[in-house]
Amino acid sequence: MIEENGAIRTLSVDIGGSGVKVIVLDSHGHALTQRARAETPQPPKPGSVIDTIAELAATQGQFQRVSVGFPGVVRNGVTETAVNLDPDWIGFDLVTALSKRFNKPVQVINDADMQGLGAISGKGVELVITLGTGFGSALFVDGTLVPNLEMGHHQFRKDETYEEQLGRAALEKVGEKKWNRRLEKAIKSLHNLFSYDYLYIGGGEAEKVNIKLPENVKIIPNITGLLGGIALWKD
Ligand code: BGC
Repeated sequence: MIEENGAIRTLSVDIGGSGVKVIVLDSHGHALTQRARAETPQPPKPGSVIDTIAELAATQGQFQRVSVGFPGVVRNGVTETAVNLDPDWIGFDLVTALSKRFNKPVQVINDADMQGLGAISGKGVELVITLGTGFGSALFVDGTLVPNLEMGHHQFRKDETYEEQLGRAALEKVGEKKWNRRLEKAIKSLHNLFSYDYLYIGGGEAEKVNIKLPENVKIIPNITGLLGGIALWKD
């Protein structure tokens, strides 16, 4: 696809509540392989998710390092929350487990943070939200990440959180029309809170957004979640 000149190949992994996705990126962050996806194993415990990542990785050819976006708070490679996976992830050292499995360097960050790194311009206050199984959020100031924002579990309206109102379960329950109206309110509420210069909306359900968006609000393709994987290796 893109010329590579023997540059380092990075396996980028997006662990989601419903699917696990992988792709290989060149050192500029361009995709070198076709994205591969598998259903998230049930129950989504660390061992079976790691097996799924290894099976997907085997379809991707060579790679020298691994980047992972994880759907929960991640600190120093340890997963601290996993609302849409399994309690076994709390306190799990994912970096060490994957480094042993692949015998390669591994970096892990929150999935919305990784998606944001693939989307932002690096100027001003940029907010990213992801609409999938959960509600992800990431905040950047002049390109610097404020890690593990977790807006999803903050109160939004009617005694419910952003995730309870806008996650996939809510979308399935109330339907696209009502979900879109809620999203419109969320965009206003988040603007009041952050006065962002740009808001990016990603995730598997972003394609269902059909409201008229303000000029500084953009839908980003779901693949951005994987493309952000290259930024984890910039110092
Ligand atoms: C998690 C976040 C994650 C989001 C999207 C939420 O439930 O708490 O860490 O980014 O889902 O996967």
